[in-house]
Amino acid sequence: MPSPIIEVPMDKCKICNHDIEIVMRFGKMPIANGFICNIDEEEFFYDLSVGFCPVCFMVQLISTVAPKKMFNESYHFISSTSLAMAEHFKRTAEEIIVRIAGRKSPFVVELGCNDGIMLGHIADKGIMHIGVEPSVNVADLARKRGINVTNEFFDVKSAKAIVNKYGQADVICGSNVMCHIEDINSVFQGIDILLKENGILFFEDPYLLDIVKKTSFDQIYDEHVYYFSGLSVSRLAKRHNLTLANMIHQDVHGGSMRYYIIKGSVGSISESVKDFISQEELMKLNKVEGYLKFKNKVNKICNDLKAVLLRIKQEGGRIAGYGATSKSTTLLNYAGIGLKFIDYISDTTPTKIDKYAPGTHIPIKSHEFFTFDNPQYALLFAWNHKAEIFKKEEIYRRKGGRFITYFPKVIIE
Ligand code: TYD
Repeated sequence: MPSPIIEVPMDKCKICNHDIEIVMRFGKMPIANGFICNIDEEEFFYDLSVGFCPVCFMVQLISTVAPKKMFNESYHFISSTSLAMAEHFKRTAEEIIVRIAGRKSPFVVELGCNDGIMLGHIADKGIMHIGVEPSVNVADLARKRGINVTNEFFDVKSAKAIVNKYGQADVICGSNVMCHIEDINSVFQGIDILLKENGILFFEDPYLLDIVKKTSFDQIYDEHVYYFSGLSVSRLAKRHNLTLANMIHQDVHGGSMRYYIIKGSVGSISESVKDFISQEELMKLNKVEGYLKFKNKVNKICNDLKAVLLRIKQEGGRIAGYGATSKSTTLLNYAGIGLKFIDYISDTTPTKIDKYAPGTHIPIKSHEFFTFDNPQYALLFAWNHKAEIFKKEEIYRRKGGRFITYFPKVIIE
């Protein structure tokens, strides 16, 4: 008798429906920004795995979390917690203002405007604008700044509603939002509806090439459904009769890419798109081989980091986390770094303070507490803000305090 064939369903690409190849499985994870108020609270866990589509080259999460579990009444990610990010978004607004100069009644739409850190500058100039922001608490913060906000997810329906009310947009932009949206095909259809013929869409998200080069695997968590590259974004745009016209690297969030998209399929493409795609091809990001070493490199960083933390603890040292980032949820839960190593995490975000980190239940304390407590070591979860934080913590370091960083390798400095 032939043995019965068990059909194992393949994971399908969210863009083109082709079978995807698994890059890495991280196991059960809590929601990255799911800070809890007390340690008995029930937490939601999901399977965190990342895969690669060999046809459209999109790197993506295999299972995703319902958006309302992440972006709701109490979204803990507040954009205005870093001076460097405030500067970055001011420059973004300045770029938009230059782009729309001379246009009649220009209209700017920002997807995921958060607390209005960027759009505030557009509103201040009296430019017609709207922010599309599904998280209630941050949308309210933006409104308090005088920004016009619609509290919803962006898709074909909301794109049509905006066009009916305000007309088409000269500029559509989004920072750290596009990679959050699972139904990205619907978003791009919405963009086609909302964008003027001579308008431009630009968005920025953590850049796949940076993630692979640095092994910065902590960028992989529930909110980041996609890990974009020029290879994948150019194909995604083409599917929707749009063109990836330019790419400009941004030194924020540990290495991000800003993608500029125009309407139609025959627009002029800048040399930088070709250059970045060549670099991506050199790293084999268009083949599964490009991802084969990733898992081993992740595991090495986790093991090295745990060995350093263990040695410090054995020598009687005390360690605090610095920055209760979304990213740290993946690192802490995957590496198994909890209260045995870390006493608490210092953070400046009011809504995170006095809560507990997802999964590990490490308490979150204020920065004032950290300064008073003065632990010997600070494990820098907010490594993307290293320059700003080192400047701010000059006295801590001068008094002997040491930061531990871990990408691309573990360093005490
Ligand atoms: P962020 O860089 O946005 O990372 P993620 O996207 O992974 O959440 O988060 C930075 C966190 O670090 C945020 O909670 C604020 C905190 N933070 C400090 O506590 N002190 C600082 O000086 C800076 C810059 C950030």
